[in-house]
Amino acid sequence: MDYSCYINVKTVEKPLNIEDVEVEIGFGRGDFIVKVAKEHPKKTFIGFEIAEVSIKKLLKRVNRERIKNIKCVWVDAFFGFQLLFKDRQVKQIYINYPDPFPKKRDTSRRITRRESLYVFSKKIDTGCYIDIRTDHFGFLEYTLEQAKQLECFDINYRELRVNEPITKYEEKWMKMGKKLYHIKLKKIKEPVFTEVRRIKEVKMLFPVKLENIVPNPRALEETEHKIRDGLNARFYKVWNKNGNFLIETIVSENGFVQKFMIIIKRKENSYIFDVSPFSDVLKTKGIQEVVNFVAKESIK
Ligand SMILES: C[S@@+](CC[C@H](N)C(=O)[O-])C[C@H]1O[C@@H](n2cnc3c(N)ncnc32)[C@H](O)[C@@H]1O
Repeated sequence: MDYSCYINVKTVEKPLNIEDVEVEIGFGRGDFIVKVAKEHPKKTFIGFEIAEVSIKKLLKRVNRERIKNIKCVWVDAFFGFQLLFKDRQVKQIYINYPDPFPKKRDTSRRITRRESLYVFSKKIDTGCYIDIRTDHFGFLEYTLEQAKQLECFDINYRELRVNEPITKYEEKWMKMGKKLYHIKLKKIKEPVFTEVRRIKEVKMLFPVKLENIVPNPRALEETEHKIRDGLNARFYKVWNKNGNFLIETIVSENGFVQKFMIIIKRKENSYIFDVSPFSDVLKTKGIQEVVNFVAKESIK
């Protein structure tokens, strides 16, 4: 399969060097992004998804149908936008039938919470739109209220009359006779400053070298640690092979989750702690802190 349309957020050069780019967040089966990409062959469309199965399906389809102007990224759009785009680079954002998280306690996970809309509004150009479709009235109300707080949008919404459904969800809701809504947020100026969770990328990760001491990372197995505010690590299995160790690790850094292996390699009378060369990680300050933490904890 041709992977040239896949963007690996961990290794790609940032910000992306693509002009005239439009984005769909949560493309699901990909019906919408494929349709608009075919209608506008000169523009580039980037799809963000958190579901691996959707990424695989879209890659297959783009290959099969030889579509050249779609790229996709497997990452939460909230972090993906921060990592990949410079301010005002994006020309249009589409969000079709996002998860509405109807329970009150979960509304802070919605993709249109103020924090996300702040990031998206920084990345779209003035005069451009965030275009949202939803079947959920509570989500509509919430989105309007969050968008208003940023004081940067001309806000419009209307009931949507669909003749031809574009996605599976749209078709399903239409058949059920559900009301659908279309929200258009036009950026007219820069948003009011809003604190957002960020991840700090670093150029390099530095291995930690310990001399004249034999580490014992076993105590870390199946443990969870708060390294500092916003940085948590969980260690699963620890393997020992010929004096070298591998530690299965999950790190959450301000909500950005990465799964990888930490390797502890014996070299003469020293041990080197590092991210395994076979792990695909976004190099961040938090990952470095976790490697340092493992080294410290392994010699207790
Ligand atoms: C209800 S489905 C709708 C799919 C498609 N847009 C449609 O209309 O058929 C919502 C999709 O958004 C994706 N998603 C949810 N949160 C996301 C996020 N923060 N970033 C990227 N994708 C997300 C989910 O994996 C899921 O595929």
